[in-house]
Amino acid sequence: MKFFVDTADTKDIADLAASGLIDGVTTNPSLIAKSGRPFAEVIAEICALTPGPVSAEVVATDYDGMIKEGRKLAKIASNVTVKLPLTLDGLKACKTLTGEGTQVNVTLCFSANQALLAAKAGATFISPFIGRLDDIHLDGMELIHEIRQIYDNYLFDTEILAASIRTANHVKQCALAGADVMTAPPAVIKSLVNHPLTDKGLETFLADAKKAGIKV
Ligand code: G3P
Repeated sequence: MKFFVDTADTKDIADLAASGLIDGVTTNPSLIAKSGRPFAEVIAEICALTPGPVSAEVVATDYDGMIKEGRKLAKIASNVTVKLPLTLDGLKACKTLTGEGTQVNVTLCFSANQALLAAKAGATFISPFIGRLDDIHLDGMELIHEIRQIYDNYLFDTEILAASIRTANHVKQCALAGADVMTAPPAVIKSLVNHPLTDKGLETFLADAKKAGIKV
Protein backbone atom coordinates (compact mmCIF):
# COMPACT_ATOMS: atom_id res chain seq x y z
CA MET A 1 0.00 0.00 0.00
CA LYS A 2 1.35 3.41 -0.94
CA PHE A 3 1.50 6.13 1.73
CA PHE A 4 0.60 9.71 0.86
CA VAL A 5 0.85 12.44 3.48
CA ASP A 6 -2.21 14.67 3.84
CA THR A 7 -0.80 18.11 4.56
CA ALA A 8 0.39 21.37 2.97
CA ASP A 9 3.08 21.85 5.60
CA THR A 10 6.33 21.68 3.62
CA LYS A 11 8.47 21.15 6.73
CA ASP A 12 6.51 18.02 7.64
CA ILE A 13 6.64 16.80 4.02
CA ALA A 14 10.43 17.31 3.78
CA ASP A 15 10.87 15.45 7.05
CA LEU A 16 8.78 12.44 5.97
CA ALA A 17 10.20 12.41 2.42
CA ALA A 18 13.70 12.05 3.91
CA SER A 19 12.52 8.97 5.83
CA GLY A 20 11.57 7.25 2.56
CA LEU A 21 8.15 6.43 3.98
CA ILE A 22 5.96 8.50 1.69
CA ASP A 23 5.02 8.00 -1.94
CA GLY A 24 3.10 11.21 -2.54
CA VAL A 25 1.16 14.10 -1.02
CA THR A 26 -2.48 15.15 -0.89
CA THR A 27 -3.73 18.64 -0.13
CA ASN A 28 -7.15 20.23 -0.07
CA PRO A 29 -8.30 23.87 0.11
CA SER A 30 -8.60 23.66 3.92
CA LEU A 31 -4.99 22.45 4.27
CA ILE A 32 -3.70 25.12 1.84
CA ALA A 33 -5.60 27.80 3.80
CA LYS A 34 -4.03 26.47 7.03
CA SER A 35 -0.52 26.85 5.51
CA GLY A 36 -1.25 30.58 5.07
CA ARG A 37 0.77 30.58 1.83
CA PRO A 38 -0.10 31.32 -1.83
CA PHE A 39 -1.60 28.23 -3.52
CA ALA A 40 0.69 27.90 -6.57
CA GLU A 41 3.81 28.61 -4.53
CA VAL A 42 3.11 25.94 -1.94
CA ILE A 43 2.14 23.31 -4.56
CA ALA A 44 5.34 23.99 -6.54
CA GLU A 45 7.43 23.61 -3.40
CA ILE A 46 5.72 20.34 -2.44
CA CYS A 47 6.21 18.96 -5.98
CA ALA A 48 9.93 19.61 -5.69
CA LEU A 49 10.08 17.72 -2.37
CA THR A 50 8.67 14.44 -3.73
CA PRO A 51 8.70 12.77 -7.14
CA GLY A 52 5.33 11.15 -6.28
CA PRO A 53 1.85 12.46 -7.13
CA VAL A 54 0.84 15.72 -5.41
CA SER A 55 -2.91 16.34 -5.31
CA ALA A 56 -3.94 19.98 -5.80
CA GLU A 57 -7.67 20.73 -5.69
CA VAL A 58 -9.66 23.07 -7.91
CA VAL A 59 -12.08 25.52 -6.31
CA ALA A 60 -14.32 26.05 -9.36
CA THR A 61 -17.54 24.02 -9.35
CA ASP A 62 -18.55 24.28 -13.03
CA TYR A 63 -17.00 22.23 -15.86
CA ASP A 64 -15.36 25.16 -17.69
CA GLY A 65 -13.92 26.58 -14.48
CA MET A 66 -12.57 23.18 -13.38
CA ILE A 67 -10.90 22.61 -16.76
CA LYS A 68 -9.32 26.07 -16.67
CA GLU A 69 -8.04 25.61 -13.12
CA GLY A 70 -7.03 21.98 -13.72
CA ARG A 71 -4.91 22.90 -16.74
CA LYS A 72 -3.30 25.71 -14.77
CA LEU A 73 -2.49 23.37 -11.86
CA ALA A 74 -1.11 20.68 -14.19
CA LYS A 75 1.38 23.22 -15.57
CA ILE A 76 2.95 23.78 -12.13
CA ALA A 77 4.87 20.47 -12.23
CA SER A 78 4.70 17.11 -13.97
CA ASN A 79 3.73 15.34 -10.72
CA VAL A 80 0.64 17.46 -10.04
CA THR A 81 -2.55 15.38 -9.73
CA VAL A 82 -5.62 17.53 -10.23
CA LYS A 83 -8.20 16.96 -7.50
CA LEU A 84 -11.83 17.31 -8.57
CA PRO A 85 -15.03 17.01 -6.53
CA LEU A 86 -17.38 14.08 -7.08
CA THR A 87 -20.10 15.97 -8.95
CA LEU A 88 -21.40 15.55 -12.51
CA ASP A 89 -19.29 18.50 -13.66
CA GLY A 90 -16.32 17.08 -11.77
CA LEU A 91 -16.69 13.70 -13.49
CA LYS A 92 -16.99 15.36 -16.90
CA ALA A 93 -13.86 17.40 -16.16
CA CYS A 94 -12.16 14.16 -15.03
CA LYS A 95 -12.82 12.58 -18.42
CA THR A 96 -11.41 15.62 -20.26
CA LEU A 97 -8.32 16.10 -18.11
CA THR A 98 -7.34 12.40 -17.99
CA GLY A 99 -7.81 12.37 -21.78
CA GLU A 100 -5.14 15.08 -21.95
CA GLY A 101 -2.76 12.92 -19.91
CA THR A 102 -3.30 14.68 -16.57
CA GLN A 103 -3.64 12.55 -13.44
CA VAL A 104 -6.93 13.14 -11.62
CA ASN A 105 -7.94 12.41 -8.03
CA VAL A 106 -11.73 12.44 -7.63
CA THR A 107 -12.43 13.51 -4.06
CA LEU A 108 -15.28 13.66 -1.54
CA CYS A 109 -16.43 10.10 -2.27
CA PHE A 110 -18.91 8.72 0.25
CA SER A 111 -20.57 5.83 -1.62
CA ALA A 112 -19.67 2.82 -3.77
CA ASN A 113 -21.83 4.12 -6.61
CA GLN A 114 -19.89 7.41 -6.61
CA ALA A 115 -16.66 5.39 -6.82
CA LEU A 116 -18.09 3.39 -9.73
CA LEU A 117 -18.85 6.63 -11.59
CA ALA A 118 -15.35 7.98 -10.97
CA ALA A 119 -13.79 4.80 -12.38
CA LYS A 120 -16.03 5.02 -15.45
CA ALA A 121 -14.89 8.66 -15.89
CA GLY A 122 -11.28 7.41 -15.97
CA ALA A 123 -10.13 8.74 -12.60
CA THR A 124 -6.53 7.94 -11.67
CA PHE A 125 -7.47 7.93 -7.96
CA ILE A 126 -10.75 7.82 -6.05
CA SER A 127 -10.73 9.29 -2.54
CA PRO A 128 -13.29 7.73 -0.19
CA PHE A 129 -13.40 9.61 3.13
CA ILE A 130 -13.35 7.11 5.99
CA GLY A 131 -13.23 9.37 9.06
CA ARG A 132 -16.05 11.62 7.90
CA LEU A 133 -18.33 8.58 7.45
CA ASP A 134 -17.34 7.32 10.92
CA ASP A 135 -18.16 10.82 12.23
CA ILE A 136 -21.80 10.36 11.21
CA HIS A 137 -21.91 6.82 12.66
CA LEU A 138 -21.53 4.99 9.35
CA ASP A 139 -18.80 2.41 8.66
CA GLY A 140 -16.11 4.17 6.61
CA MET A 141 -14.07 0.99 6.24
CA GLU A 142 -17.02 -0.92 4.77
CA LEU A 143 -16.90 1.54 1.85
CA ILE A 144 -13.26 0.61 1.12
CA HIS A 145 -14.23 -3.10 1.01
CA GLU A 146 -17.16 -2.37 -1.34
CA ILE A 147 -15.08 -0.28 -3.74
CA ARG A 148 -12.29 -2.89 -3.76
CA GLN A 149 -14.79 -5.57 -4.75
CA ILE A 150 -16.41 -3.47 -7.48
CA TYR A 151 -13.09 -2.37 -8.99
CA ASP A 152 -11.81 -5.96 -8.94
CA ASN A 153 -15.04 -7.29 -10.48
CA TYR A 154 -14.56 -5.07 -13.54
CA LEU A 155 -10.76 -4.67 -13.52
CA PHE A 156 -10.91 -0.88 -13.21
CA ASP A 157 -7.44 0.74 -13.08
CA THR A 158 -8.56 3.55 -10.76
CA GLU A 159 -6.57 3.40 -7.53
CA ILE A 160 -8.42 3.47 -4.21
CA LEU A 161 -6.87 6.32 -2.21
CA ALA A 162 -8.31 5.97 1.29
CA ALA A 163 -8.63 9.46 2.78
CA SER A 164 -9.84 11.11 5.97
CA ILE A 165 -7.71 8.66 7.94
CA ARG A 166 -7.58 9.56 11.59
CA THR A 167 -6.01 6.59 13.41
CA ALA A 168 -3.34 3.90 13.15
CA ASN A 169 -6.16 1.35 13.16
CA HIS A 170 -7.63 2.98 10.04
CA VAL A 171 -4.27 2.44 8.30
CA LYS A 172 -4.17 -1.25 9.21
CA GLN A 173 -7.80 -1.80 8.18
CA CYS A 174 -7.13 -0.08 4.82
CA ALA A 175 -4.17 -2.37 4.16
CA LEU A 176 -6.29 -5.42 5.04
CA ALA A 177 -9.11 -4.18 2.78
CA GLY A 178 -6.71 -3.78 -0.16
CA ALA A 179 -6.69 0.01 -0.57
CA ASP A 180 -4.01 0.95 -3.11
CA VAL A 181 -3.04 4.11 -1.27
CA MET A 182 -3.83 5.72 2.05
CA THR A 183 -3.36 9.37 2.87
CA ALA A 184 -3.00 10.50 6.47
CA PRO A 185 -1.74 13.47 8.47
CA PRO A 186 1.98 13.36 9.43
CA ALA A 187 1.17 12.55 13.09
CA VAL A 188 -0.81 9.44 12.12
CA ILE A 189 1.97 8.17 9.83
CA LYS A 190 4.59 8.73 12.55
CA SER A 191 2.41 7.02 15.17
CA LEU A 192 2.55 3.73 13.23
CA VAL A 193 6.03 3.05 14.58
CA ASN A 194 4.93 3.10 18.22
CA HIS A 195 4.70 -0.02 20.34
CA PRO A 196 5.32 -0.14 24.12
CA LEU A 197 7.14 -3.49 23.81
CA THR A 198 9.59 -1.93 21.33
CA ASP A 199 10.37 0.84 23.83
CA LYS A 200 10.64 -1.61 26.72
CA GLY A 201 12.83 -4.05 24.73
CA LEU A 202 15.17 -1.28 23.61
CA GLU A 203 15.51 -0.02 27.16
CA THR A 204 16.54 -3.52 28.35
CA PHE A 205 19.00 -4.05 25.48
CA LEU A 206 20.66 -0.70 26.17
CA ALA A 207 20.85 -1.31 29.93
CA ASP A 208 22.43 -4.77 29.36
CA ALA A 209 24.89 -3.31 26.84
CA LYS A 210 25.89 -0.60 29.30
CA LYS A 211 26.33 -3.12 32.13
CA ALA A 212 28.51 -5.33 29.94
CA GLY A 213 30.46 -2.36 28.58
CA ILE A 214 29.53 -3.28 24.96
CA LYS A 215 30.76 -0.78 22.38
CA VAL A 216 30.04 -1.13 18.65
O1 G3P B 1 -7.75 15.43 2.03
C1 G3P B 1 -8.96 14.89 2.39
C2 G3P B 1 -9.01 14.27 3.74
O2 G3P B 1 -8.03 13.36 3.99
C3 G3P B 1 -9.68 14.98 4.81
O3 G3P B 1 -9.53 14.43 6.10
O4 G3P B 1 -9.74 14.46 8.55
O5 G3P B 1 -10.48 16.46 7.21
O6 G3P B 1 -11.80 14.36 7.19
P1 G3P B 1 -10.44 14.95 7.32
